[in-house]
Amino acid sequence: MIQIISGTDRPESRSFEISKISQNLFKIHGSESNIINLCGLGLNELNGQQYGGALNESSSVGNAVQLVNQASGLLFVVPEYNGSFPGALKYFIDHWSYPDSFESRPVAFIGLGGQWGGLRSVEHLQGVFGYRNSYIFPERVFLTNIWEKLKDGLISDALCNELLEKQAENFIKFIRALRSESLSC
Ligand SMILES: Cc1cc2nc3c(=O)[nH]c(=O)nc-3n(C[C@H](O)[C@H](O)[C@H](O)COP(=O)(O)O)c2cc1C
Repeated sequence: MIQIISGTDRPESRSFEISKISQNLFKIHGSESNIINLCGLGLNELNGQQYGGALNESSSVGNAVQLVNQASGLLFVVPEYNGSFPGALKYFIDHWSYPDSFESRPVAFIGLGGQWGGLRSVEHLQGVFGYRNSYIFPERVFLTNIWEKLKDGLISDALCNELLEKQAENFIKFIRALRSESLSC
């Protein structure tokens, strides 16, 4: 199962709306997916003693890390906050376990923001996953001036819709190709 990670805990986030669009595109192309929404996940209940995957699996964050550890691939939908990805997302990732959560895991990225469409947030996040030996899918999508393009859960820009669809279709193939050679986890 592909896990889509909506990369902020901000209520009513656009990242979550984009996550739902990608979930639908995965479905159209024959893959089931699930959205891990950082909003309401219970990150604020952690007390600093469970870094590196030392979480109770019955907690909501522990359960989310389990989903990550079992994922065939991860799609991050990541907004730009102050020139990078949100701190809440880093806090979540720092509760994952190494190598289980990261190593050989296919990962894809959608950025959203202003003029640069989350380029910096995606590139910073790619640095984390490159360092942790994940398989980075090269087709990234950047959604610029997202507040103009996203209305009522739909993206008005035809090129963006085309890129999102191609990404979903090809990420499924990327996961399959790695699997067929026993390269991914
Ligand atoms: C705390 C904060 C910081 C932001 N910083 C940037 C930024 O540095 N660059 C940018 O292009 N957009 C920035 N934005 C705009 C967001 O990328 C944009 O509002 C996006 O929709 C946020 O994603 P979200 O709706 O999922 O929270 C910022 C927004 C917030 C809330």
